[in-house]
Amino acid sequence: MAETVRRKASLRDVAAEYFSRRPSEEYMKPLVRVLTLGVARNYMLLDHVLRRGGYGPPSNSTRWMLARVAVFEALSGKLKPSRARSLAEKAGVDAEWLLSLRGSRPSDHVKGLGGLERLSVLYSFPRWLLEELAAARIPRLEELLRALNRDPVRWLRFPHTRLSFEELAQRLTAYGVKLRRDKDLPDVAEVVAGASTVTRTREYMDGLIVLQDKASALVSWVASPAGRLVHDPTAGAAIKASHSLWLGARYVVAGDVKPQRLGEAVRTLTRLHLRHAADVVVGDARAPYLRAADAVIVDPPCSDVGRLQYEPEVKMWLTRGDVKFFRRLQLRMLAAQLEAARPGTHVVYSVCTLTRSETIWVIRRVLERVPYAELVKHEPFIGEPVPGLPLAQRMLPHLHRTQGFFIAVFRRM
Ligand SMILES: C[S@@+](CC[C@H](N)C(=O)[O-])C[C@H]1O[C@@H](n2cnc3c(N)ncnc32)[C@H](O)[C@@H]1O
Repeated sequence: MAETVRRKASLRDVAAEYFSRRPSEEYMKPLVRVLTLGVARNYMLLDHVLRRGGYGPPSNSTRWMLARVAVFEALSGKLKPSRARSLAEKAGVDAEWLLSLRGSRPSDHVKGLGGLERLSVLYSFPRWLLEELAAARIPRLEELLRALNRDPVRWLRFPHTRLSFEELAQRLTAYGVKLRRDKDLPDVAEVVAGASTVTRTREYMDGLIVLQDKASALVSWVASPAGRLVHDPTAGAAIKASHSLWLGARYVVAGDVKPQRLGEAVRTLTRLHLRHAADVVVGDARAPYLRAADAVIVDPPCSDVGRLQYEPEVKMWLTRGDVKFFRRLQLRMLAAQLEAARPGTHVVYSVCTLTRSETIWVIRRVLERVPYAELVKHEPFIGEPVPGLPLAQRMLPHLHRTQGFFIAVFRRM
């Protein structure tokens, strides 16, 4: 965990590297997963309890991480005296004090705090981030925070015009994978059981399945790609670009500034047998290189707050400065793509975050800066309309059981 924060790398990647160096410790993976996710999701609460116990100041040293782990285990009620003694020594805390925490509830430790301060400590969200979410007027904010601290609902998509939901669900039963049909998108299904097995199925290897959150799948639907030339200048692993092809796009140009991301794009497109229908281009979305597209999907880097269920460690290093950096980048990409687009082109703006700066602020500034851009209605509209921006929609983990996502569509006049 200390390394994750130092390198701003995902826990998943750091853990994968760790276990590849120590294969004999592989059996600990599930335990490590539970502990590291738990500590990342609750780090501020754990720091608060440690501080009240007279320890601190908090840091991201290995020793402090161990202290967080010890308190997390104590609060979960499962800490045994022998383990408390061994952890306490390494973490520099008192074993009896640790054991005294057993059985207490998180809410016991935030008595006396109120308003955003209470939410900040209880759900371990930095105060500035809560202010961003409150300014974005997210309904039922506390429920959102609770949802972001849970494991995500798992979704997949499949080529529904070639393979029916019933047929796929039937075939996957053989692997212990259970699916539930989605009520909104015909090519999306919820993975109710066996999510970790999906990538080992024949159907996955044959390119009939993509693991993708429902909110993310909504983006390509909104781009309405059938019969169109689609440009995806921030294509990453081509998840949305490949979806556009499944939805009937005539051709796709998938760009990214990072060549290694395009390596992932090529792997996705090849696995899905779509390589012939897409060009991959190394390019900067702020310096457009294609004017001919009928639809553009700008899915730029963001603070990933909507993905905290998957990567809660991001909370431990994200700063207000990062969010300002992302909003500027998003603004520049959108403005550049709109300026380069031909009249009538639709430009979809999607981000897997919910901060006001990256969503509402960006839209307002684009509309100020690019006089011939307008926001337009789009379908399917299955999320929440955004207060003050009713043409934009938000998908929210606590209301829609998806990642947090913001989607709006501009038209070049
Ligand atoms: C959120 S990801 C895109 C995910 C992708 N749409 C998908 O569905 O697989 C953002 C991508 O933007 C790329 N990126 C960052 N800065 C860029 C730039 N200036 N121009 C183009 N791509 C950029 C990143 O490398 C990253 O792959």
